[in-house]
Amino acid sequence: METKIVKVNNINSERKLIMEGAKYIKEGKLVVFPTETVYGLGANGLDEEAVLKIFHAKGRPQDNPLILHVSSMKEVKSLVKSISTEAERLMEKYWPGPLTMLFQRSDAIPDIITAGLDTVAIRMPNNSIALKLIEMSGVPIAAPSANTSGKPSPTSVQHVIEDLYGKVDMIIDGGATGVGLESTVLDLTGNIPMILRPGGITLEDLQYIIPNVEFDLSIIKDNENIIPKSPGQKYRHYAPKADMIVFTGEVDNIVNTIKEKSNELTKQGKSVGIMATDETKDRYDEEIVISVGSRKNKETIAHNLFNAIRLFDKKNVDIILSEGVELSHIGIAIMNRLKKASGGNIIEV
Ligand code: TXA
Ligand code: MG
Repeated sequence: METKIVKVNNINSERKLIMEGAKYIKEGKLVVFPTETVYGLGANGLDEEAVLKIFHAKGRPQDNPLILHVSSMKEVKSLVKSISTEAERLMEKYWPGPLTMLFQRSDAIPDIITAGLDTVAIRMPNNSIALKLIEMSGVPIAAPSANTSGKPSPTSVQHVIEDLYGKVDMIIDGGATGVGLESTVLDLTGNIPMILRPGGITLEDLQYIIPNVEFDLSIIKDNENIIPKSPGQKYRHYAPKADMIVFTGEVDNIVNTIKEKSNELTKQGKSVGIMATDETKDRYDEEIVISVGSRKNKETIAHNLFNAIRLFDKKNVDIILSEGVELSHIGIAIMNRLKKASGGNIIEV
């Protein structure tokens, strides 16, 4: 398939390009677009056949439901059975933004979107290109992250091209994404509001409006018998080709343990890559050290994480030794992705 790549720097002067993307969406084609979290692989969310193409392009299992992206709060109404007061207050505070909420679905939604579940996930992205594209399409846009299933989500158009060139009709290049991790997925359909996937909107943020919000057990417990409520959370994800070990605990201990482990592995003839932070990177003598961001500003770590994982793959390391971060605020989302990227290979030191 021919993939058209367009660069949009300014949504006013390049309105025509976005209009073309919207035309593609209406025709049932696949359009990759930027959001504030990661790039999305979009199709008309009300067109079953178009949505099916998303699953094929990504190689995504069909039991994993998709998020519908809207450009206004009023669009939600026809997609859901009802909107609670809490949901309304959360939308007002955090939309547009990296918060996806689950609602009881209406009959307007094709089964393929929800993978047969009776809930539907909806969010309004905080990116002007995305919002214009949805608005001009006149339909909710179904969009998973625009990566090959299992790989880290794309935070730049280069990542999208690596994974999906030739498999989609159009890619809109809007530069690097902001948050860098996928949106928080919040389930408001049960008795207790549950975070099914941690992301840019943190537990602490949500507590302002829903003080009783909790994490789904599968996020905070290591027990493999706990089945996550969000189907996507059960797959190994964000996975580099290399093996990966994540070290958590006190920073000095982390650095010392990584150095020891690296020595040991190097002696075995392995090529080691170290995922460090701005504060620690100079303490390693190894050849391949990538700082993922600053411990004092963990948003920078979230922003760079997926790119760093892809970089190690380009350098063909056998094993990545990664520093972990504290489990608070966005640190929880970062550790959730590191846990998945490493296949649960986390060592407390
Ligand atoms: O930031 C994001 O959310 C990005 C951008 C493109 O918007 N999208 C994204 O989509 O990350 P995706 O498909 O890669 O992840 C959606 C997650 C999956 O873990 C899926 O299982 C979960 O949301 N999900 C979707 N609908 C659900 C539902 N009805 N019940 C439970 N989980 C659901
Ligand atoms: Mg994804």
